Amino acid sequence: MENDMLKELKEAVLERISPKPEERAYLKEIAELLVKKVELIAFSMDLKDISANLVGSAARNTWISGTHDLDIFIMFPEDASREELEKKGLAIARKIAEESESFEERYAEHPYVNMRYRGFDVDIVPCFRVDSAACIRSAVDRTPFHNEFVKKNIHGLETEVLMLKQFMKGIGVYGSELRTQGFSGYLTELLVIKYGSFDNAITSACEWQPGTYIDLNSHGNIQHAEPLVVVDPTDPKRNVAAALSLDKFCMFIDSCRKFVHSPTGDFFFSKPKVPLTDTELLERFKARGTDFIAISFKTPDVVEDVLYPQLYKMELAVAALLEEHEFKVLNKGSWSGQETVIVLELMASTLPALRKHRGPPVWVHKHAESFKDKYENAEDVFTFYIENGTYVAEVYRKYPEARSILKDRLTSCSMGKQVSSAVKKGFEILVGNEILCIEDISFKLFLSIWPKR
Ligand code: UTP
Ligand code: MN
Repeated sequence: MENDMLKELKEAVLERISPKPEERAYLKEIAELLVKKVELIAFSMDLKDISANLVGSAARNTWISGTHDLDIFIMFPEDASREELEKKGLAIARKIAEESESFEERYAEHPYVNMRYRGFDVDIVPCFRVDSAACIRSAVDRTPFHNEFVKKNIHGLETEVLMLKQFMKGIGVYGSELRTQGFSGYLTELLVIKYGSFDNAITSACEWQPGTYIDLNSHGNIQHAEPLVVVDPTDPKRNVAAALSLDKFCMFIDSCRKFVHSPTGDFFFSKPKVPLTDTELLERFKARGTDFIAISFKTPDVVEDVLYPQLYKMELAVAALLEEHEFKVLNKGSWSGQETVIVLELMASTLPALRKHRGPPVWVHKHAESFKDKYENAEDVFTFYIENGTYVAEVYRKYPEARSILKDRLTSCSMGKQVSSAVKKGFEILVGNEILCIEDISFKLFLSIWPKR
């Protein structure tokens, strides 16, 4: 990469994404206020040995200007009961929520409270203060260890993390939620620690292959199936990149190569996308010559981390059902708003009346004979003949239209608990132009960039 140009580009990007001193000071003020409040409330509830901690990117100076997200952990003694942690943790968080603009209780492995507090998106999460990340009692107990590790090792590299996070955001691979399946903040920080700089992380990633293994503390080889393995320095059995999908891994490699070849600001700030009009979408459908089919149903009331894995599972099950009936699936995807829509692009949504039904080899005497008895002179058989040693009956296809299989058989697909029950309450099948009757603008955008995600 050309050094001067890159230097200028980095400066321009950092100018936009590094928090200014006032913004930093304000975040610090609110974070300290909240930490103090938690401790005071705990004290007033006569809870001894409870402390509050700011964790996440806000605690590590690796947050991007404008993203006002505070992760505050209430640390309970290791020997506290889970019940106590849940009950008292929630009680403390609720007390703070009373002063918030709005709040919501959420359930990960155990309950926590998310609130809007003086413009910040605050998570107040109770956890156990365990001795090491290897003996955690709940998944969130690891976070304070991540925090300590990064704080110890990131000094002087904060702006490199900002660059890498923003690059990943710009190309659409940032975020470890189950919907995105991309890179988490912690993973980005570990990559910067490993490679020493943004530039070096990018040039190194150009050569990544599935099976790339990063082990900062030389904990030794542990087998993982994921494309990228980054051994958690605080818990060697865990892969920090476990949520990263093969495609997001490859999108990152692809963008790194493009960036090394011609670095521009566009990688960091993707242009806002405008959806195509219905007429343009119809033209695209027509030009592709394929057939689109969609299933829509009311979105179940669950968090995205629950919804999306179920939708991905449903996509696979529906595609398998269609393939089993000789409909070739080219692409699939799901979108979710008020309603949820699974879209499949088929080679064709209608197949000929005739289906070739292959029977046993002629020399398997008994089976061959019963097949022949059943089909040879049946009224609804087009032709009966021998091909490559087996009998073939050309019969009427039960489902010449993709729509009718889905109508009949969709509810028997395996789709995950909440999605399955939402589908059972009612669904609609839309074919071709009918899909455009879903008015939501973000759905139109989803179709406009199809089949990318
Ligand atoms: P965040 O998702 O808020 O990430 O999780 P972050 O590191 O603060 O990054 P940004 O800047 O907000 O995007 C807070 C902490 O929770 C743990 C990490 O320790 C992280 O720092 N965490 C979160 C995980 O270990 N894994 C995850 O997938 C998500
Ligand atoms: Mn955060």
